[in-house]
Amino acid sequence: MGKIVVAIDGYSGCGKSSTAKAVAKDLGFTYIDSGAMYRAATLHFLNNFLSISNPHDVEKGLRTLEITFQINPDSGKQETYLNGLNVEDEIRSMGVSEKVSEIATVKEIRKELVAQQKRLGRKKGVVMDGRDIGSVVFPDAELKVFMTADLETRAVRRQQELYEKGDLVELEDIIKNLAERDRIDSTRKESPLIKVPDAVEIDTSNLTFEEQVAQIVQLAKGVIDNEKDYAGNHR
Ligand code: DC
Repeated sequence: MGKIVVAIDGYSGCGKSSTAKAVAKDLGFTYIDSGAMYRAATLHFLNNFLSISNPHDVEKGLRTLEITFQINPDSGKQETYLNGLNVEDEIRSMGVSEKVSEIATVKEIRKELVAQQKRLGRKKGVVMDGRDIGSVVFPDAELKVFMTADLETRAVRRQQELYEKGDLVELEDIIKNLAERDRIDSTRKESPLIKVPDAVEIDTSNLTFEEQVAQIVQLAKGVIDNEKDYAGNHR
């Protein structure tokens, strides 16, 4: 099968990561969770008491930051490593969730992570999810998807996800966190979350997980078979 880049953007808690992962598996592509990279950077700054308002701290933080992904041989799942340590669970904690949008507003941090993301997607055959994938990281992606879902639905899904990991969090707190992240992500100066004109919008509020995965896989296969991008331009 031909290799393309599938860019999936959207609001926090729309199920982008799990959907993107399943789409990649179906297509035999590599999945890259760009949000995990911002989360790992956040953990690094928090652990080392580095301030994003101090340019020296930002420079030091970036210089000492190494983010990698590895497949867990037991579960087959991809996990995030920060400077050689597995941080997959830690980066999903509320502590990191509360700080990550702020870290993601910093120009220098975005520049470094975007450069790494571009390198990871160079050979195509990737599905990457985030906020600026279709607009900044891969503006030439053959398929761009913009996922949405109403706030309440997203909060309930996130609560369930945290519960399954043993974290009991009030729905109210999750709603506040998601709304605040939506606000920061959409209004920031550097690469705000936007729906680019050539993205296909998928509202997942009333879709099952299987349905949303199937829709994107079908779109991707259509692009691969036609050798045209979604906007109809020959590749
Ligand atoms: O996808 P996520 O919820 O794990 O992302 C965590 C945060 O990282 C999100 O609030 C915004 C930021 N982010 C970003 O600014 N750009 C990306 N490409 C991915 C994530």
